[in-house]
Amino acid sequence: MDELKKLPQLLLPWYYVNRRDLPWRADREPYHVWLSEIMLQQTRVEAVKGYYARFLAALPTLESLALCPDDALYKLWEGLGYYSRVRNLKKAAGVIMERHGGCFPKAYEEILALPGIGAYTAGAISSICYDLPTPAVDGNVLRVISRLTDDNTPIDLPAYKKTVEKALSGVYPANAGDFTQALMELGATVCGPNRKPDCESCPCERICKGYLHGTAQSLPVKSGKKPRREENMTVFVLSCGGQYALEKRPDKGLLAGLWQFPHAPGHLEVAQAIEALEKLGIHVRQVHRQTEKNHIFTHIQWNMRCFYMEVRETAGPYVWMPEAEVETRAALPTAFRQFWEEHHV
Ligand code: ADE
Repeated sequence: MDELKKLPQLLLPWYYVNRRDLPWRADREPYHVWLSEIMLQQTRVEAVKGYYARFLAALPTLESLALCPDDALYKLWEGLGYYSRVRNLKKAAGVIMERHGGCFPKAYEEILALPGIGAYTAGAISSICYDLPTPAVDGNVLRVISRLTDDNTPIDLPAYKKTVEKALSGVYPANAGDFTQALMELGATVCGPNRKPDCESCPCERICKGYLHGTAQSLPVKSGKKPRREENMTVFVLSCGGQYALEKRPDKGLLAGLWQFPHAPGHLEVAQAIEALEKLGIHVRQVHRQTEKNHIFTHIQWNMRCFYMEVRETAGPYVWMPEAEVETRAALPTAFRQFWEEHHV
């Protein structure tokens, strides 16, 4: 990967002129950089900005994060998805308080050992906060490198990622943090995903084999993904005199510890839905509406049918909450929240 040698001298001047003014670039405080990198995994910059500000306003220190009750923590993450990220943030903050005297560790290996931190995040923190030559290789960076080197190795092969990490660490300049962010910036903008690369605006045009060979647009190559498993379910938005039925998901598994509306497997017809509720001692006064929506996770797709119903008693194995409490107390994952957003329709 000899073409990477010139990367810093081409990329850094471009970055200093073109970098976006993002909230987590205001300082190099490891807690801030760490939080932003975790939030930015699988999530767009624009979506993260508001969450980042709210999270730090509520939990300004590692200590406050380590001590935050789970319900409040999930509420701060509500809608961001991949909730294990925030569980691991709290766990890691606990480890930093207990084993590192409340100071974020400075050694790459110690950072990598924290819960929820892999090579990407450890590389990002060590380079951005401490200027260590540790690359942060995610899908964006893999796309950039596969194009620069005109390499059609599938980028989802773990061995390819290791090769790229090694090659990049050999070309890191002294201002390592800026170089890490410059690579991210190129991969998020000019050489971004799901669209034609804007090679005319790219500072690396001269050295990019993908551009020079005309292959940039057909890269990167990905090996076949497993198809998502589909599950049908019926969701109940049950109201009774202004209160709504919710339940807490189990402490383990998908969306652990978050709240949800009652639901049953399969797509029930209205008569079956009414009968299922009667078995729980809940009698339906009125069926307001029925709607269908999907929710896509990484490995599963939920095909959700929802009944909005007024019922006669606040019964069943549920917690009945007034509307304001649903808003302020219960972290409802997006799969369920999408029905809540429409409960006044
Ligand atoms: N994507 C991942 N990390 C990022 C960062 N620090 N800035 C912008 N986009 C990113």
